[in-house]
Amino acid sequence: MHCVRKITDDLYWVGGNDNRLALFENIHPIPKGVSYNSYLLVDEKNVLFDTVDWSICRQFLDNIKGVLGDRPLDYMVINHVEPDHAASIEEILIRYPEVKVVCTEKAVLFMQQFGFNIDGRAIVVKEGDTMSFGKHNVVYVTAPMVHWPEVMVTFDTTDGVLFAADAFGTFGALGGKLFNDEMDFDRDWLEEARRYYTNIVGKYGPHVQSLLKKAGGLDIKYICPLHGPVWRNNLGYFIDKYQKWSTYEPEEKGVLIVYASMYGNTETAANYLATQLVEKGMTNVAVYDVSKTHVSYLISETFKYSHLVLASVTYNLNIFPPMHDYLVDMKALNLQKRTVALLENGSWAPQSGKLMRELLGQMKDMNILDPEISINSSMREEDGDSLAGLADSIIESMK
Ligand code: FEO
Repeated sequence: MHCVRKITDDLYWVGGNDNRLALFENIHPIPKGVSYNSYLLVDEKNVLFDTVDWSICRQFLDNIKGVLGDRPLDYMVINHVEPDHAASIEEILIRYPEVKVVCTEKAVLFMQQFGFNIDGRAIVVKEGDTMSFGKHNVVYVTAPMVHWPEVMVTFDTTDGVLFAADAFGTFGALGGKLFNDEMDFDRDWLEEARRYYTNIVGKYGPHVQSLLKKAGGLDIKYICPLHGPVWRNNLGYFIDKYQKWSTYEPEEKGVLIVYASMYGNTETAANYLATQLVEKGMTNVAVYDVSKTHVSYLISETFKYSHLVLASVTYNLNIFPPMHDYLVDMKALNLQKRTVALLENGSWAPQSGKLMRELLGQMKDMNILDPEISINSSMREEDGDSLAGLADSIIESMK
């Protein structure tokens, strides 16, 4: 049975949801599931925009059949070849042998690498190329590294629909809803949208900036991403989030404290600092145990807050491993422009502060605050005084 949503008079959402997958890309937890969006335009020529993950292929095929009936599928526009969208391409090629595949040159290469036989069926397009499907005209806009090098987005100039590939996507299954105005996005979706962006596309901020500049010249009425809700009003809200995330500007003035603690002493120091901050008037404070929180959530929070406090015990004369992994991930995702305070703990040779400083020094525009706090085994009165001083220093730096 098909299960589709109508977006405009001629355009249908024919994707589906996966609530069973535990880890997206086999790395990021998705407790709220994920949607794989595909879109079908019914015109003089019928056009499918991207496919879906293999896990929901049966639903996807039912959806296409439900909309098209016995009409042909003429074109398949492939904006992105990552298998969460491209895995079902071959099934479409088999079931619709007349279909032509429209994509960039690099996408042809990637489809061949993934084993799809598109010989004689590919129509290679470049930046600014246009096509008409009858009533609807589209222009192709390349978007390399948002999130792979072959990516393009497609803009339907007739109805103002942007098929945005991974851009403007979110984690989360749709649960019957499709449009942003059918949900409280800020309350229920923003956290997962940020976690999706920062972990999947976060590294490629300058490329997202380039796409945003190109999109600025288009009269966009709908944004149709490959994951999550379709946007049909209040587009500026989400574009503004993308503007901040892709330029690594914090969303909020506030303090994220992430601690690595073996026996609770570094944890006590982190909580003492949080208490000092709140008592001194800075209430926008979030505290996380690096061992208990998946790093994808920490990365998302790190993109959100202006200030970061890293508190780590020393372990094998190094940074505590989960804290080390978090810092390496932060660097890989190109995080920058943050004010950071450091706290180390060690019973005989505290090293983690120096080592965290070295890693932060490899990132752009990271301002490390003084004083750096060093604790031996457990907190003493004088450590409390130092942490109160650090809280003052953090608050002062926000002015
Ligand atoms: Fe949702 Fe880069 O694939």
